[in-house]
Amino acid sequence: MIGVFDSGIGGLTLLKELVKTLPKEDFLYYADTENVPYSYKTREQILEFVENAVIFLRKESCKAIVLACNTATNVSIEYLREKYDFPIIAIQPAVKVAFDNNEPDKRILACATPVTLSADRFENLINSLDINHIVDRLPLPGLVEFAENEIFEDEKVLEYLKTEFSKFDLNHYKYIVLGCTHFTYYENFIKKNFPSLTPVDGNEGTARHLKNTLETLGLLSVEGIGNMRFVESGNYVKDESRFLRYLGR
Ligand code: DGL
Repeated sequence: MIGVFDSGIGGLTLLKELVKTLPKEDFLYYADTENVPYSYKTREQILEFVENAVIFLRKESCKAIVLACNTATNVSIEYLREKYDFPIIAIQPAVKVAFDNNEPDKRILACATPVTLSADRFENLINSLDINHIVDRLPLPGLVEFAENEIFEDEKVLEYLKTEFSKFDLNHYKYIVLGCTHFTYYENFIKKNFPSLTPVDGNEGTARHLKNTLETLGLLSVEGIGNMRFVESGNYVKDESRFLRYLGR
């Protein structure tokens, strides 16, 4: 079984991709419902929340854990990998995908939570690609709250995005990086309402990376059935309808 962690329902967008890539694995999805959104928490708080979830998932016999939360990755991944010796795969904003496919003279709009955008790890990623001069950062914590409240194709979301995007001249951009798993729910909405922007996220890359890691370590399952169970802040979910609804989006 593989543990998949997010602060809330955002990581289900990645879970969907994981099931597609690894149909013979079983998954245990952990949403930290009591503490979402992480956008307004301190780094110390987030580190503690993520470590608690990792310990829980490991106790439930997960052979590998996926941080399906960019915010969690940016705050905790180095610490966790140093402390624990099981595989921890972590999503991060897909700025490399945007850069590799970018058109000359276009800028990249990197959207994520404020925690991710101000993290050293994110800064190091941008610097390692030497693209600081073409990347603009836009925190969109409001999208996390809309998604948690199941507000999707809605006028309120459009107004919010219009206000946030008005800080930039969108003609200068091709790629918008959805650097928070909650944002993926708005991929089609963004395409429809801001057709000059091409959204990219880290879901496919992370799923591929998980598959490669399991293969390399000889941990790939051949007998799972893509079974899924859900946990909210340490408690198994009995009524899974909310999770299944999000997975269906
Ligand atoms: N889904 C999370 C991410 O990918 C964070 C959302 C939040 O709790 O603010 O960054």
